Amino acid sequence: MNVAGKAALVTGGAQGLGKAFSKILLQNGAKVLFTDIKEDVGHATLSEFQKDYGQNNVVFIKADVTSQPQMEESFQLAKSSFGRLDIVVNNAGVGGEHDDNWERCKGPIRCTRLALNYLRRDKGGQGGVIVNISSAGGLKPTQYGPVYSGTKAGLLMYSRSLAANSDLQQSGVRVNTLCPSFADTSLVASIRDNETTVLNNEKAWEQVQSVGIMPVEYVAEGLFELVTDESKNGAVLLMAKATGKKYLEM
Ligand SMILES: NC(=O)c1ccc[n+]([C@@H]2O[C@H](COP(=O)([O-])OP(=O)(O)OC[C@H]3O[C@@H](n4cnc5c(N)ncnc54)[C@H](O)[C@@H]3O)[C@@H](O)[C@H]2O)c1
Repeated sequence: MNVAGKAALVTGGAQGLGKAFSKILLQNGAKVLFTDIKEDVGHATLSEFQKDYGQNNVVFIKADVTSQPQMEESFQLAKSSFGRLDIVVNNAGVGGEHDDNWERCKGPIRCTRLALNYLRRDKGGQGGVIVNISSAGGLKPTQYGPVYSGTKAGLLMYSRSLAANSDLQQSGVRVNTLCPSFADTSLVASIRDNETTVLNNEKAWEQVQSVGIMPVEYVAEGLFELVTDESKNGAVLLMAKATGKKYLEM
């Protein structure tokens, strides 16, 4: 897929991986609407992107992936701003195992379901691709983040199951999953800074250091491959500092 002239919606795009994913799409000529719950950071990122990639090629809306009405509005805004929607990146996510967080894991499924209404050819769309951001923690147990690991594993199998659906394949939609190991974002820094509620910050941070941390730009290259390579549907791409990019046969 040549992304030039295509339109994308990226959730949680104000910072971190979502910002890097939005950026690589913009750099390659796509138009991007990104959502986030952090309004100030979102507006700062919007200004930066508009300066670099054009006023009309990027839109930000404050929207929470746990809210159906807010996400419906976001998808409608992407379509009305760009006249089309081809790429959806379900990136927004949280670490931490405390009470507020553990119940917030339905966002990516909500947004995938909405995305299908816009992308499917049999629903008036033009086909396209959804990339769901799981984690290396969705592939193997994370002893300090069981909710994180469990929900990322669920998202992985949800995405693979959709991709296996023949009706969806005929409607022109691909669904891929990206599983990064640790990347250089505030989510990982919050473990070091004791600002998250993984089950043991100190031990979790030791684990991060032993595994190593990737630059977000590197992870964005993997995202771009899953978007552009039209032979990839149901693909699971693991990315880690030590091993690089690795497609998993599951
Ligand atoms: N950084 C890593 O090492 C790593 C590894 C594997 C997977 N991931 C996944 O990558 C994604 C991005 O994480 P990150 O590391 O860039 O973290 P981050 O905290 O830097 O960025 C996440 C962004 O999502 C936004 N967000 C959080 N909840 C939201 C909600 N309900 N609605 C809308 N926006 C929301 C945050 O405000 C933030 O801007 C997450 O799904 C995370 O689980 C990250």
